Amino acid sequence: MNTNSEQVLDQKSRPLRDLRISVTDRCNLRCTYCMPAEIFGQDYPFLPKGELLSFEELERLAKLFVHQFGVEKIRLTGGEPLMRKDMPELVGKLAGIKGIRDIAMTTNGVLLPVYADKLKKAGLKRVTVSLDSLDDERFKAINGRGVSVSKVLAGIEAAKEAGLGVKINMVVQKGVNEKDILPMARYFKEKGHILRFIEFMDVGNTNEWNRQSVVTKADIIRIINEDMPVEPIDPNYKGEVAKRYGYLDGSGEIGFISSVSDAFCSTCNRARLSAKGELFTCLFASSGFDLRTLIRSGQTDQELAKAIGTVWRNRDDQYSLDRALAKAAPRKKVEMSYIGG
Ligand code: GTP
Ligand code: 5AD
Ligand code: SF4
Ligand code: SF4
Repeated sequence: MNTNSEQVLDQKSRPLRDLRISVTDRCNLRCTYCMPAEIFGQDYPFLPKGELLSFEELERLAKLFVHQFGVEKIRLTGGEPLMRKDMPELVGKLAGIKGIRDIAMTTNGVLLPVYADKLKKAGLKRVTVSLDSLDDERFKAINGRGVSVSKVLAGIEAAKEAGLGVKINMVVQKGVNEKDILPMARYFKEKGHILRFIEFMDVGNTNEWNRQSVVTKADIIRIINEDMPVEPIDPNYKGEVAKRYGYLDGSGEIGFISSVSDAFCSTCNRARLSAKGELFTCLFASSGFDLRTLIRSGQTDQELAKAIGTVWRNRDDQYSLDRALAKAAPRKKVEMSYIGG
């Protein structure tokens, strides 16, 4: 941890270590579980440019999070982060912050052939690419824009060529892409990329989530084990979101993000900054703390840090745990494309 930073703990004694920055609420895809095309249509009120935090504002806030709170890891998200112009420039600014250990990006991969090299040169370390099927027909239906699998695979290849670390995220939904679990596992085992299976979550208000459409970690392990047995392995670091499993034949690993069947709130050290500068302390929050107004009204770094510290100290979110205990009260939630994944 940075020597100048204070150890700020929330109401459940969790520190702040991971900052996830959404740089845009727009996306070039319309995944049915995230931005269904019927809702995110032509006239959807996406944020106008002036509402977005500028790169200078983002750099200033990131510096505060790193230097005053001990954040070590930044992840850039969206929507689709590469829909924002000049992302390598932002990566360069963030990579220059002393104390940052890791800068990653979550992307759908479609624009990686254009940007992978520039991002790597600017200081990005890794990308996590979302891909839910290797079957063109199914993938086109899921992504809502008829984009073919080959586009995403080309993005993955470009990232690898550029020297970026690559992981793959697959959201699994019952009756939609269970058939793709094994082909995806085989393909990425062979390619040497870590594939992570994400349980379908009730983020946002538009994806018509229900418990029956979740394929759990246990279900997926059963399917994988029949063909390529796996065993649990230790986390890379405390609070790692994905539960790691290694193939018994020693050739690689997979991960599970089991927010529904096995919540991981007790070690959640993640803060999220929306594209317009609101600070969210949970993926399932209804509202965030407006840092943009503070910045634009001329507050000093110390004043901003004080506000952030207060938000974190007051934090007691544990939505996924409460959901598991059937204690999560229904609420209007912010959309995932707005807050970032
Ligand atoms: P590494 O840095 O590679 O360990 O990845 P990460 O855990 O930061 O992974 P990533 O950003 O790819 O997260 C994977 C997915 O897990 C996200 O896209 C979300 O769907 C989900 N996720 C991440 N953080 C949280 C969280 O705090 N709560 C819940 N419920 N889901 C999360
Ligand atoms: N449930 C689980 N994962 C989701 N993602 C987006 N919406 C959901 C959801 N409802 C995933 C995306 C991407 C990451 C940002 O989160 O597929 O990999
Ligand atoms: Fe876009 Fe990712 Fe959401 Fe799909 S999951 S609509 S690629 S932000
Ligand atoms: Fe963290 Fe909220 Fe996810 Fe729990 S549900 S792990 S508190 S973001």
